[in-house]
Amino acid sequence: ADQSATLTLRADQPGAVISREIYGHFAEHLGHCIYEGLWVGPDSSIPNTRGIRNDVVAALKNLQIPVLRWPGGCFADEYHWKDGIGPREKRPAIYNSHWGGVVENNHFGTHEFLDLVEMLGCEAFVSVNVGSGTVQETQQWVEYMTSDAKSPMADLRRANGRDKPWRVKYIGVGNETWGCGGNMRPEYYADVYKHFNTFIKNYDREYRIQRIACGPNGDNYAWTEELMASAARHMNGLSLHHYTLPSGSWSGPKGAAYGFPETQWFTTMRNTLIMETLVTKHSAIMDKYDPQKKVGLVVDEWGTWYDVEPGTNPGFLRQQNTIRDAVVAGLNLHIFQKHADRVTMANIAQMINVLQAVILTDKEKMILTPTYHVFEMFKVHQGATSLKLDLKTPDYVFGAEKLPVVSASASRNAAGKIHLSLVNLHPSDAVTVSTTLEGVKPGAVSGRILTADAMDARNTFEAPETVKPVAFTGAKLAGGQLTVTLPAKSVVVLEL
Ligand code: AHR
Repeated sequence: ADQSATLTLRADQPGAVISREIYGHFAEHLGHCIYEGLWVGPDSSIPNTRGIRNDVVAALKNLQIPVLRWPGGCFADEYHWKDGIGPREKRPAIYNSHWGGVVENNHFGTHEFLDLVEMLGCEAFVSVNVGSGTVQETQQWVEYMTSDAKSPMADLRRANGRDKPWRVKYIGVGNETWGCGGNMRPEYYADVYKHFNTFIKNYDREYRIQRIACGPNGDNYAWTEELMASAARHMNGLSLHHYTLPSGSWSGPKGAAYGFPETQWFTTMRNTLIMETLVTKHSAIMDKYDPQKKVGLVVDEWGTWYDVEPGTNPGFLRQQNTIRDAVVAGLNLHIFQKHADRVTMANIAQMINVLQAVILTDKEKMILTPTYHVFEMFKVHQGATSLKLDLKTPDYVFGAEKLPVVSASASRNAAGKIHLSLVNLHPSDAVTVSTTLEGVKPGAVSGRILTADAMDARNTFEAPETVKPVAFTGAKLAGGQLTVTLPAKSVVVLEL
């Protein structure tokens, strides 16, 4: 190995429980995320259940996805839910102004989304329309979905074929209200939030809706300050969005998804690690107003954002996914786990065919991306108790800048198993991690690794298994000491 790191795993120092919902997803009416990715319609030749793809549902169930956010994104603030209920052939077609200017036929609406949620066995996170909707529209939507009473909206739901209300755990009140959701000032939005929130009723007294306020864009700390100061006691969560662009800038080319130089490997890693600063600083502001940590930081959009796949609609945000994305996923999930006392949910953008997707489809074909495999390997952390780690890592030096080579996270699950995940973000150097184990004497270690030779190794429809996890043989236990050799650009999960 070219480099060395030291780690102490303190199994006797448990920390916060890692919310399962850190492993959440996001599906917007954007490009081929919903249509083709999830929804093919009941008459499709692609095997489906009530219009939803069977292959995709099976792959998602294998991830144990805990929560799904829908219908946007920017789309949420121009979505009128009543367009998406009732007989499909009678639903109005609308114009999707944000994403490619395509026709949205509203065939995937409230019933279809909540059917999907029930198939996946996950929680629903519905973003209501604040930007171009009304308080009444939101109030009625929540009633439609969750009321068991004899009331106009519950009756309308029954008339549309669903007798019992659904379980909707999370309501997001507007999306990016500082931008596509209305270009509001935080002072104004804080009032709008409280206004909408007042009319989001708990129809099910036992199962209270968790309310997520729209939080800051990246490092807009003033937004967090204002929302926490004036609305913290009305919310269960405050969102945060941070995307990773190789260029670091929204103007001009962002960088290619594959076929990129090492400079862009480096800047992608650097820009993704900004998440640590964002979470730390927003959490510190939240601590001032909410020392008991009742309000979760909900990172409900995160992931890589590259130039679109050549030849595709620029409004569809379709991009390939490589071992670089897998490393990015591992780093971000570690950051969320490190801050598990405050970060209660995160939703990678987006689930299928858009941005840092876990699944890509092409008509009847489906492939799993390197990012999928990280979510699958890391699912052992869901709901487990985080354990303290002390890590001394070497640096990845690039020009005048440097980044920590190793990132690590550990947890203990209900069955007492300890899982240690490790990421080596260096594109060409292996690193040996000499690990001291405190408070645990494992008899054996086993694990899996995701790695590749090329920086842009990826799965394609022609070669779908180029990047996939395999058994890991680089971990050795001797005399209470664990030595792990991590190849360059690798993600490893060990069980002790
Ligand atoms: O995920 C794509 C878009 O990114 C979302 O619609 C929006 O919320 C964000 O700007």
